[in-house]
Amino acid sequence: METDFGQDTPEWGGRGQAGHVPVLLKEAIDFLAVTRGGTYLDATVGLGGHSSEIAKRLGAPGHLIGFDKDPKALAIAQEALVISPSSLVLSEGQRTKDEGRVPDWPTVTLMHASFAEVGERVAPASLDGLLADLGVSSLQLGDPARGFSFQADGPLDMRMNPMSGRTAEQVVNHLDERELADVIYEFGEERRSRRIARALVRARPILTTKQLVDVISAAARPMNNSERRIHPATRTFQALRIFVNRELDDLKALLEAAPRVLKPGGRLVVISFHSLEDRIVKDATRDGAKQGQYRLLTKKPVTATEEEIESNSRSRSAKLRAAERT
Ligand SMILES: C[S@@+](CC[C@H](N)C(=O)[O-])C[C@H]1O[C@@H](n2cnc3c(N)ncnc32)[C@H](O)[C@@H]1O
Repeated sequence: METDFGQDTPEWGGRGQAGHVPVLLKEAIDFLAVTRGGTYLDATVGLGGHSSEIAKRLGAPGHLIGFDKDPKALAIAQEALVISPSSLVLSEGQRTKDEGRVPDWPTVTLMHASFAEVGERVAPASLDGLLADLGVSSLQLGDPARGFSFQADGPLDMRMNPMSGRTAEQVVNHLDERELADVIYEFGEERRSRRIARALVRARPILTTKQLVDVISAAARPMNNSERRIHPATRTFQALRIFVNRELDDLKALLEAAPRVLKPGGRLVVISFHSLEDRIVKDATRDGAKQGQYRLLTKKPVTATEEEIESNSRSRSAKLRAAERT
């Protein structure tokens, strides 16, 4: 079982908003094969790291569309990609001379939307490329008030879109023990799910991430050396986050719509961070290839180089798969 280890290293929790380092950036851009003047969708625009590289290659005749569920991420992307993209591409001297205008910048449209809505929001056969870089950003992990991190104390929220849906607090305190155990097992692939669920139900109400971590740590002591490698709360936090944000359902909806919104020759690139996501991407692209919708560009997933893993620990669990619409 592979887990999103992004939280396991202290480096992550401690980074600020500007600290998000795009994962597999060169590989993603190479597989997208961005063409000048094309139309590309970044389905997880986040802080704009991948998007800015796409935008640079599109030039003024191009169109970049960016989706994100998180309004805070979108506000940062708006600043970086729409209001003053000069900070991304121009040197200090050039910026002051030209008041920050970037001469060859594409039209950028940002939408506060889930990528599950791609089929309704994007015209059929209109995209030359679609990128999804799944999971959470450093902005979300690094802000204790969002409740994603087990390394900092905060309210149990975990919603990528704080304007809708159930919080992790509601899930932890209102599901019955069996449902809770199923969520922890299914989305965290946690073998100690029943024991953890029992302890959580007994400890209710659980209102903060620290309380949650303490209950899990007491209930689920590591059984062997491989379990000792990861924090005991890793899998339960992953499970709650996936459940709260309906991450796997959204991913399935995105992959279902992708062949319809891509032009022939258009590229699909997906970066995933745990085995549940990767399996869904692998199955969808393989099935698409069998039905003649895709030519697979990656028979095996592309992973980060040792150099990238050393400089950005989050890339350790990243897997990139790419396909071309036929
Ligand atoms: C790993 S970050 C992307 C980082 C981005 N590639 C960058 O370089 O800055 C993932 C982003 O996807 C967003 N996200 C996750 N699920 C989503 C969904 N179903 N629809 C839209 N955005 C989603 C999260 O809010 C987060 O901002």
